[in-house]
Amino acid sequence: MKKIIIAIDGFSSCGKSTMAKSLARSIGYLYFDSGAMYRAVSLFCLQQGLFADGSIDVEALRARMDEIKIAFEADPVTKNSVTLLNGVNVEKEIRSLEVSRIVSKVAALDFVRADMIEQQRRMGQAKGIVMDGRDIGTTVFPDAEMKIFVTASAEVRAQRRYDEIIARGDSADYAEILENVQQRDHIDQTREVSPLRKADDALLLDNSNMTRAEQEQWLIERFKEITNG
Ligand code: DC
Repeated sequence: MKKIIIAIDGFSSCGKSTMAKSLARSIGYLYFDSGAMYRAVSLFCLQQGLFADGSIDVEALRARMDEIKIAFEADPVTKNSVTLLNGVNVEKEIRSLEVSRIVSKVAALDFVRADMIEQQRRMGQAKGIVMDGRDIGTTVFPDAEMKIFVTASAEVRAQRRYDEIIARGDSADYAEILENVQQRDHIDQTREVSPLRKADDALLLDNSNMTRAEQEQWLIERFKEITNG
């Protein structure tokens, strides 16, 4: 069967990576997390002292971009995809609060985006991939055969995040989380470079009232329609 590119974009905390991962596993495709790449560049900034007093040393980062090599590989035990920064597994570090705090600033730099987009396009050369992010269907792979734009109400997303934190045994304030979700939506949609928007030919998936199983079923049906049609 002819292999295609599947682009999954959408708002934060919509469960994009969970759905992209499980879809890739079900159909035997490779999964790529583009957000992890922006997180890896952010970690590089922290490790190399390129972030101080709340701001990034933009010129130093620009000069050192060619030192940043990002790759993904399957964890030998869990089989989950993990992120490598210059050959080192940084999957845990890129999810830290320090990285989360600076990543939106790093992802807004035009030269960082240009570099990541080039690397992402190379990852899609042989097709047979699912990539999730914010600009995959609009900028990285405008010709992707299957494009999904995921959304859910801000209240539902805040509740999911709240439940995750409580399940971890930590405390959380729902109102604060909701405000953060709304703020991130605003930043993502109004950013100058590659703002978050639905590609005209993307299928809209509002998963506010869907279970994971229903969502998976919906995605596989769309995949079959597109690859058989
Ligand atoms: O999906 P995430 O939270 O791991 O994304 C991390 C950050 O990177 C977030 O600020 C959005 C940004 N991002 C982006 O600008 N473009 C992408 N294709 C993926 C993520």
